[in-house]
Parts: sequence; structure tokens; C-alpha cells
Amino acid sequence: MKVLLVGSGGREHALAWKLTQAPNLEELHAAPGNPGIAALGRCHPVRAEDGEGLLTLARSLEADLVVVGPEAPLVAGVADELRHVGVPVFGPSSGAARIEGSKTFAKDVMDAAGVPTAESLSIARPPCVIKADGLAAGKGVFVCHDQAQLDVALHAASSFGDSIVIEELLEGEEISVFALCDGARALALPAVQDFKRAEDGDTGPNTGGMGSYSPVAGFGPAEVEEILETVHRPVLEELAARGVPFVGVLFAGLMLTDDGPRVLEFNCRFGDPETQSLLPRVDGDLLGALARAAAGDLSSVDLDVSDAATVTVVLAAVDYPTANDVGSPIDGLEDAAEAGALVFHAGTALKGDRLVTNGGRILGVTSTGATVAEARERAYAACKYISFPGMRYRSDIAAMVHV
Ligand code: AMP
Ligand code: GLY
Repeated sequence: MKVLLVGSGGREHALAWKLTQAPNLEELHAAPGNPGIAALGRCHPVRAEDGEGLLTLARSLEADLVVVGPEAPLVAGVADELRHVGVPVFGPSSGAARIEGSKTFAKDVMDAAGVPTAESLSIARPPCVIKADGLAAGKGVFVCHDQAQLDVALHAASSFGDSIVIEELLEGEEISVFALCDGARALALPAVQDFKRAEDGDTGPNTGGMGSYSPVAGFGPAEVEEILETVHRPVLEELAARGVPFVGVLFAGLMLTDDGPRVLEFNCRFGDPETQSLLPRVDGDLLGALARAAAGDLSSVDLDVSDAATVTVVLAAVDYPTANDVGSPIDGLEDAAEAGALVFHAGTALKGDRLVTNGGRILGVTSTGATVAEARERAYAACKYISFPGMRYRSDIAAMVHV
């Protein structure tokens, strides 16, 4: 198969790494990709949001499958355009991607499907959570414990221009549960925990994610299957009934409250940096599964998952998430890889043949072990080999986890 992978982050590098292990892969192409992906396949200078450019590229490559990584092109309808000309796509239509693109749509679907979620409130009164309706790259959610926080939140949320959602403030641990979907069926992937705050001890501003690990204690295959039954499958059924069947990864962000799991949000794609910890645990043929999902029939697919544990530590720019870093030289990747780690590029570029920073989250370092504690020790040991000016990372990813 010839595969075109859309995107340029750490998630896409992890997907590229996994896809190149597939027995049926003939050629891997990426748009636009990154220097890490360029070592595994051919990168083309087409942006992920450039629907027309992707269409032309997919046709000229005679791609057998397009795998779309990020949400923005999906919400914008890139998958629809490709399908319209007969190119198989792993990724939802714009109608189905609204499950991530619009919080009010997601709430409406969950209500209709009977999926447990935070209660919607009609009046903004603390404690509560304010969410801007549309895509906001993780910056549109405000957790308000008091009136001062609420005042700031209402002002900030209105700057996104869309309507807002007000919901009850929930407390508990968060997990990410992913399912591969073919429009009707959902196939479970291992649960992952992500660390969203910028600083140790879950303090500082929210980010795209500073690290992740898998497996999550208490969330083995049986528990994940139960979540799929109560969350993913009812949503799939509801979307299909509305004429927008979901093909791709349905990603539920859940909070484990004292009253049971509650959905905080849905995403229409793989998580970043969850994917970097998830895919090294998948032993089966991921490409085969994505192709079957895109073809609308996952019924005969079974993906083996290993018992191994994984930990991913994100190496970020000095001012992330406030500002990116561009052009600072990066060293030590080979040494980290030699120490046994997988080093996934997220925000890097080549200046001549020098690897330099080019973003907020620069690299992800993933290690595997028999336990989370072992994987964690290895990941942090590998991080020590890597350096760039201002490099920083959380020191408590997967700490206190003894699986
Ligand atoms: P979301 O983009 O909806 O996942 O929200 C981002 C983060 O805000 C989540 O990972 C939670 O930490 C927090 N959050 C979202 N909704 C709620 C809620 N109803 N109660 C408490 N925290 C929430
Ligand atoms: N790590 C959270 C996300 O991908 O949305």
C-alpha cells in the first residue's frame, strides 16, 4: 500500500514509525511531515490545512490510503474532499468531526445517546467550567472555582467569538480512551494518561500535553471495553443515525469521578502525546486496521496489545505554551536512541543539515519497560542525552505509578 500521512507533529512521527513496520506498506509519504518522519518516508511541502494541495498530492501519488493526524483539516472537511474523488481516508467527515469541532454539538449527541458527561448549566455561577464552543487548540476551557476566575473566563471565552457551554465542575483523575471506528463498529486501543499542565505537580497553564504513559492502573482491556460500550458505541450509533457516520479515531477524554467515568470531551483523532505511548504497545498490524476502518469493515480485525509499559516525556521550548522557539540547535538524539529510547520529533526543522527547534513541543522521548516505573526510569535517563537552549520538561511524568 501507498500511504499519505497528513500532519507534522510527534503524533504523526509515532504513526509513521508504526506504519513503516506494516507488512503491506510499499511507500510512506507525508504532508508536510517533519525531519523525524523524513527518515522513514518522503515528505512533501503541502500543509495539512491545504485541502486542494492534499487532493492533488494524493492523486499524483495514487495513494491507497490517506491517514489524517490533526483535527483542523478534519473539521475543515479534508476527508470529505478526498473521499469525494474516491481516495480511501482514515479520518472522519467534517460532519462527524463536529464531535470535536463544536462543544454544543458534542453535548447534544451525548444527551441523545445517554452518555455520562458533566451536567450542562444554564447560569454561570462558580464552581463551574466555561468552554468556548469551537476549536481552540486546548485554550478554550476555563475551570472556575470562584467569581474572579469566572469573570476572567467569560471575558476570555467570548474572545473566541462562538457561543459558550457552561458545565458542572467535576473532580477526579483523567484518562484518554481511544477506539478505531469504521462508521458502525469500535475497536479498543489501550487507555493512556496524559499530563496537560506545564509544570510539575499539575501546576501552571494547560498545554497540548507534557507527557503520557500506558497502561493505566485499573484500566485494562475489560474496563476499556466497558467504556466503549457506555461511551463510544452509543455515540457512533447516534452519529450514524444523524447521517454522519464516524470513521477514524474516536478519542474520549474522561474524568473518573466518585460517581463513575464522565466524558469531558471528544476528539476526532489520535491524542498527542498519547499516541507516542500508545503505539509502541500495539503489536498488531496497525496499517491493516486503519485500512479496514477506512473501508468500513473492522469486523474481522483484532489488534494485539503487549503487556509492556511505556512512558513519554515531552521536551519543550523555554516559554512553551506561551511562545515557540525557532532555530536553536538540538544535540544528542543519537545517544538517546542508542540508550534504547524512541525519540519522536514534534517541533523540529533542518537548517542545512543541522537539526534545530521549530515549535513549542520540540521532541518526545518514549521508553518501554516491564513496568511503568521501569519505562519511566529509562525515558528520563534518555532525556539526559538531549539538549537545546532553554530545553525543559516535567520531572514527574508517570511518577507515583507503580504498575
Ligand atoms: P477539554 O478540552 O474539554 O478536555 O478540557 C481541557 C481540560 O479542562 C480537561 O482535560 C480537564 O482538565 C478540564 N475540564 C474540562 N471539563 C471539565 C469539567 N466539567 N470539570 C472539571 N474539569 C474540566
Ligand atoms: N493530549 C490531548 C490531546 O491530544 O488533545
